[in-house]
Amino acid sequence: PQGLPASVDPELQESLQVLKHRITRLEGVLTLEGKLTEVGEKILATNGKEVNFETTLKACEHAGGSIATPRNKEENDAILDIVKQFNRYAYLGIRESDVPGEFQYLDGKPLNYTNWHASEPNGKGGENCVEMYTDGGWNDRKCNQYRLTICEF
Ligand code: IPD
Ligand code: CA
Repeated sequence: PQGLPASVDPELQESLQVLKHRITRLEGVLTLEGKLTEVGEKILATNGKEVNFETTLKACEHAGGSIATPRNKEENDAILDIVKQFNRYAYLGIRESDVPGEFQYLDGKPLNYTNWHASEPNGKGGENCVEMYTDGGWNDRKCNQYRLTICEF
């Protein structure tokens, strides 16, 4: 009946169950393909394609997400899972600031977690993007390489 909260509406309750079951199965399919992983509140996903940094940004935005941006070790490990699954480096949502050698999130805020590979960053203004290696370490790198697209939602 109208006006009752969802918690006591059996039809709505049944619809929710059906939806949840379907979502769980779809997540299972994508996870099996190495294309999806969940970390905290984030969902990370790849389309398996390798494109340059700008194209990665556009692809993620087009899908309703944004480029994967590791904000702590747990998130870095989750992105690494996908990088290892596809054995391809991936660009991250981090860019060099106006100060050569200083990196920041795409919104301009300072990094509060880093996982630079030994001797990185070493580009000193010549490598404006950041890629994740297959060991999870970060390397500053030119933005024109073809890297695995990983988005967060
Ligand atoms: C370089 C090396 C270096 C890294 C640079 C890369 P390349 O590769 O891997 O360790 O710091 O970012 O460009 O250009 O000599 O093939
Ligand atoms: Ca570098």
